[in-house]
Amino acid sequence: MSDFLDLAARRQSCRSFSGIRVEREKLTKCVEAARLAPSGCNGQPWSFVVVDDPQKVAEVAKCAQPLNINAFTDKAGAFIIVLEEHAVLMPMLRKMLDSQTFAKGDIGGAVISICLEAADLGVGSCIIGLYDRETLCNILGLPQEQRFGALIALGYAADDAIRPKTRKGLSEIVKYV
Ligand SMILES: Cc1cc2nc3c(=O)[nH]c(=O)nc-3n(C[C@H](O)[C@H](O)[C@H](O)COP(=O)(O)O)c2cc1C
Repeated sequence: MSDFLDLAARRQSCRSFSGIRVEREKLTKCVEAARLAPSGCNGQPWSFVVVDDPQKVAEVAKCAQPLNINAFTDKAGAFIIVLEEHAVLMPMLRKMLDSQTFAKGDIGGAVISICLEAADLGVGSCIIGLYDRETLCNILGLPQEQRFGALIALGYAADDAIRPKTRKGLSEIVKYV
């Protein structure tokens, strides 16, 4: 088992995939990591579509390239799409809060769990924020009103050098009281 901070530093957005397919066993482990993530009231407002059929992978890659960005996804080996589902909150909270109050945060946790598990397995990942939802629904056979959490490109890195992280310093973002 690797040191967690080392793993967090090794996880980076991969934008140079080799085109090699990712084993289904590894993709399933990524989803398992997401399944174990915490969620508000344990509502688990998510489901996952694993795209590993080469033809579908190529089609999904095109959805990830609006405005001619993210061309590197053409060489992704797979995608995991995190869908936002209805969260069932505790009865007491249901009176006060919308069912999806915690959903975005919950999904963020699931997404980073996928990326960290992938990194631990030697698989590169890149979260894709901009994508063509309408075409994606058509490709995946989802209703147009489907809520999306995230699209994650996965694959083996062609260049696996670890880049230094560009981040705010600890002193800028933390205070101890
Ligand atoms: C919600 C979200 C959307 C993102 N969308 C894209 C994207 O469309 N294309 C891309 O190349 N990187 C995308 N990224 C990756 C970020 O640019 C990256 O996480 C950030 O620059 C930090 O770099 P690192 O992941 O290598 O540590 C996205 C990240 C997040 C969390």
